[in-house]
Amino acid sequence: MTLHKIIYDTDPGIDDAIALVFQALHPDIELVGITSVFGNADIDTTTANALYLAQRFAPGVPVVRGAAAPLRRPAPLPIPHIHGKDGLGEIERDGGSGKEDGREAHRFMVETVRAHPGEITLLAVGPLTNLALALLLDPGIATLVREVVVMGGAFGIHGALGNVTPAAEANMHGDPDAADIVFGAPWKVSIAGLDVTHETVMTTAFLAALRDNAGDAGRFVWDVSRFYERFHAEEGVTGGIYAHDYSAAAFVVARECYVTRRGPVRVLTEGIAAGLTVQKPASMHAPAPEWDTRPACDACIGVDADAVLELFAATLSNQARAEPLA
Ligand code: BDR
Ligand code: CA
Repeated sequence: MTLHKIIYDTDPGIDDAIALVFQALHPDIELVGITSVFGNADIDTTTANALYLAQRFAPGVPVVRGAAAPLRRPAPLPIPHIHGKDGLGEIERDGGSGKEDGREAHRFMVETVRAHPGEITLLAVGPLTNLALALLLDPGIATLVREVVVMGGAFGIHGALGNVTPAAEANMHGDPDAADIVFGAPWKVSIAGLDVTHETVMTTAFLAALRDNAGDAGRFVWDVSRFYERFHAEEGVTGGIYAHDYSAAAFVVARECYVTRRGPVRVLTEGIAAGLTVQKPASMHAPAPEWDTRPACDACIGVDADAVLELFAATLSNQARAEPLA
């Protein structure tokens, strides 16, 4: 068994919450910190949501507040129609929430990576501002992290290049400057974008089975996904939700379920296609100086979605079997 020590950099967010539940329950994952970032809601809201999720599913894991805005742009306007006014599907919540760790997210990342050289996985499922700030603060961490796994971008494998603009996926669009910095640093980066997340659909039946068979976590996933499923239906995706952020978490523990393509990735930072991710595949030999000077990333271009979904269900159900009977 390989233990993955993860800092989960997140903008919860309904699918962020679903991915957090998986990490909290997977036996090979040790969550060492949850860092918040603006994105699906403003930073106060995503941080409050991270605190709520930690208290309910990952007690004792530090929650550290991150960036309120992208590196070079104002904070985006709220998007309550996707994740709800509270960023978490407007479910009923009981109980309070824990206390924030007093540090800033990017400093927490640097300190934790330096304290555990070669061991920390940065799993980033929101705009990449905190990771870019960590690199700017201490570029040396790039050789000290175990790996970086990102949910973001799209490489047009099944046609899609974006979901918030025709050219940009939301996390890339949220901070394209940060994303281009992160993909250019000399660390091991893997990217799960829309090419695989659109192939990995948690259907209504799948979610209902979790509700009925996977204990408290399964009921939570059902409850929190109701709002998201309505949003998907409005967008023409009926009968389920895309497993965006969970796909990146699944990649960490089950990369054999993914086909990847290697090559440097650039992110357009200006113009109508800002946030567009463009990879130069290793098989392309034509010179492209804007790519050729940069390290290769692994972009996911295929997925065994059934296996990835089975992993999610099994992880939650195994935990449910261990829960005390009510
Ligand atoms: C990504 O954008 C956010 O809305 C989701 O949480 C996910 O991280 C999908 O494009
Ligand atoms: Ca997210």
